[in-house]
Amino acid sequence: MDTNDASTTGRWDGLLLGASLATLDGDGYGEIGDGALAWRDGLLAYVGPRAELPGDPATLADEVIEARGWVTPGLVDCHTHLVFAGDRAREFEMRLQGASYEDIARAGGGIVSTVRAVRAADEAGLLRQSLPRARALLADGATTLEIKSGYGLDFDNERKMLRVARQVGAELGIDVRTTYLAAHALPPEFKDRPDAYIDAVIDWLPRLHGEGLVDAVDAFCEGIGFSPEQTRRVFEAARGLGLPVKLHADQLSDLGGAGLVAEFGGLSADHVEHTSTDSVRAMAASGAVAVLLPGAFHVLRETKLPPLDAFREHGVPMAVATDCNPGTSPLLSMRQAMQLACTHFRLTPEEALRGATVHAARALGLADRGVLRAGMRADFACWDIGHPSELGYWLGGRLATAVHIGGRRLA
Ligand code: NIG
Ligand code: FE
Repeated sequence: MDTNDASTTGRWDGLLLGASLATLDGDGYGEIGDGALAWRDGLLAYVGPRAELPGDPATLADEVIEARGWVTPGLVDCHTHLVFAGDRAREFEMRLQGASYEDIARAGGGIVSTVRAVRAADEAGLLRQSLPRARALLADGATTLEIKSGYGLDFDNERKMLRVARQVGAELGIDVRTTYLAAHALPPEFKDRPDAYIDAVIDWLPRLHGEGLVDAVDAFCEGIGFSPEQTRRVFEAARGLGLPVKLHADQLSDLGGAGLVAEFGGLSADHVEHTSTDSVRAMAASGAVAVLLPGAFHVLRETKLPPLDAFREHGVPMAVATDCNPGTSPLLSMRQAMQLACTHFRLTPEEALRGATVHAARALGLADRGVLRAGMRADFACWDIGHPSELGYWLGGRLATAVHIGGRRLA
């Protein structure tokens, strides 16, 4: 159903009144003061002014909720590595004492140290460690999470991570989109044999996909990751299975990763600090989203800004995500990611909110969420704020008063 109607198709399951709506539908915030929001069977059924409701609220819905403040679409975290074991706080200390992310990676720390911890954990332990991170993101307004593998780096452990990612979704009753990121780092057993490792990555993919564990395919295209040629081979394997691709692209240097995403019609190029204007043009032509990850930028104390003006000028949609991971972005709040995007990248709060909703949904290839509009999923967050710009403004605290996923209110 894509119209605002109640009378023709029966009562709504729920109706929320008393708040302003930032629908993100159309230009600006899509503000509706004194709004009403209704849902049925998990989908939004009415989004508009309270004054234009087709009758007395009590007769329209089974449940009427009185709210205040603002309601936005549920936030979509389109880039996380939140399934992991252990932490890397010690490495953070080393970096503060002068070691670089690359130094630590080359010395056997970094991603590979999390690989050791993930391999040592069983499925139940990995789930137990990961769930609180997912819960924190949801409590702060997220309603859809993407979760990557990439700390297993062998068949059984990549499978374990992806199974746990699915279990996070089942446990919390949310939609988790999984991404296969076996091409994240070279595991010790393939030392000096990156091409042989890529062969293995390509070999594992159809089996994992066959188990319904893979929604998209990613790689880390970087000097300390994999070359563009190796990335291309992974992308070709994904294409052969009809799976969409995305990429950790141009984070520490420009290897043309974002251009490669565009060439494959991929969903998104993520990080993109060093992306060239040529690649920006290619992304614009292909429709790829630029996923900004200000948490990693912040924690690594980076200084090279993504080409923000070029993205704007060429109309490349910019999403914002947490990149929640133990090494470079121990970040458990989409609001905080939005704040960092505003502070470091000078996104306007409106761009940051659009980046955390509409554009993030697009980065996951999801057309059924990210805006408040009849017919879309009833994923929304209620906030104790006086204006939506506050979502990109406050650091910390608690602003979400309720989060609904498919209409159902999270406990
Ligand atoms: O998105 N760049 C590579 N991957 C992650 C970092 C993962 C890690 O250090 O554990 C990222 O920043
Ligand atoms: Fe990442």
